[in-house]
Amino acid sequence: MTIKSIKQLKNLKGKRVLVRADFNVPLTKDGKVGQSEDFRIVRTAPTINYLIKKGARVIIMAHLGRPEGKTNPKLSLKPVAKRLAQVINRPVKLSPEIVGAKTTELVKNLKNGEVLLLENVRFDAREETADKKFAQQLSILGDLFVNDGFAVSHRDQASVSTIQQFLPSYAGFLLEDEINHLNRALRLPKKPLVVIIGGAKMETKIKVIKNFTKVAKRVLLGGALANTVLKVMGVTIGKSAFEPEMFAEVKKLKLTDNQIVVPVDGVMATKTDAKSGRMDAFADIKSDELILDIGPDTIKLYASIIKSAKMVMWNGPMGLIENPVFAKGTKSLIKILAAAKAETIIGGGETVQMIRKMKLEDKFTFISTGGGAMLEFLEGKKLPGLKNIIK
Ligand code: ADP
Ligand code: 3PG
Ligand code: MG
Repeated sequence: MTIKSIKQLKNLKGKRVLVRADFNVPLTKDGKVGQSEDFRIVRTAPTINYLIKKGARVIIMAHLGRPEGKTNPKLSLKPVAKRLAQVINRPVKLSPEIVGAKTTELVKNLKNGEVLLLENVRFDAREETADKKFAQQLSILGDLFVNDGFAVSHRDQASVSTIQQFLPSYAGFLLEDEINHLNRALRLPKKPLVVIIGGAKMETKIKVIKNFTKVAKRVLLGGALANTVLKVMGVTIGKSAFEPEMFAEVKKLKLTDNQIVVPVDGVMATKTDAKSGRMDAFADIKSDELILDIGPDTIKLYASIIKSAKMVMWNGPMGLIENPVFAKGTKSLIKILAAAKAETIIGGGETVQMIRKMKLEDKFTFISTGGGAMLEFLEGKKLPGLKNIIK
């Protein structure tokens, strides 16, 4: 595998470089980029700073939320432009439109080393339909295309993939970093590799679990998705939700040879907004209870397995972390991994958010900015946004 990297580009001075970034970050109620939510912006800064230093004229394309092809002031990139300017410590101009006379003028007047952000590309319905004409309109704003939006690279969309038909395309530093780390975990891991998968749904993660059973010594499960596996194994899960439509797929996983490990106890309550939980083994769960976190024995078991690992790949929380009562399992696991000797590769929106809140992000080898993109990459799929960039 070779990656076409921006490092290979000579003489960027005065070149108009069109960068696709993923600045899809949660906004606070008053429409700002929250303090611990700017991870994706911070991680894109090295690419932008490099282009600035080389004297390129930097034009950034990004989306926010799912405006479904219509202008929506609540999803304007204004707060993102503001935060980006703080992060790179330079002015960032925001065009009020995506393509059009205003943008053309702003690009024309953009000086070497200056940064222009276009308004939310998803305000135009042609973005999500991967429209050729739209991609071409975007492409004429630049001389080169740099994809640094790993987190959106699983989308076949105009500013992500279609544009690569019209411009020489390269990977930014973040994209390159993501591909290299995730690829190594999947194909050339340090062994023993331990994989931990948690989160909401088996449906979104089963292919990743399956793929990792080929290389991992152990795959530890947690979160709501473990309920489906427990159910298939005949363990009582009280009133917890599970995915019966996934039974057939789950049964195909080898559940008997100890490679896949499920929680042995949990933190239970009768409602998700409970003020306290009850720790117990699943055998003693009551019929009206929900499993909302992994319990202390599971944490001990997982800690002992992690101890013997040389590499750990983790995606998805162990419990309903939105309620602090049920966030202990995830927090414990974060602390265990932060202190582990093993290389640690972490991903998933909610998981990473918690790590950032605990200010422990420096304790991990690599933290992915990708949600869906990371999962699809780890399923072994070819991502549309990498088409002309990885050979
Ligand atoms: P990530 O974005 O980190 O990959 P997911 O999106 O798959 O993770 O899942 C995160 C969600 O899963 C969280 O909102 C969390 O509340 C939920 N979740 C995890 N475990 C449970 C559980 N036992 N019961 C209910 N919800 C859970
Ligand atoms: C993400 O946040 O996972 C990416 O920006 C993709 O967003 P989407 O799921 O709305 O396409
Ligand atoms: Mg999520």
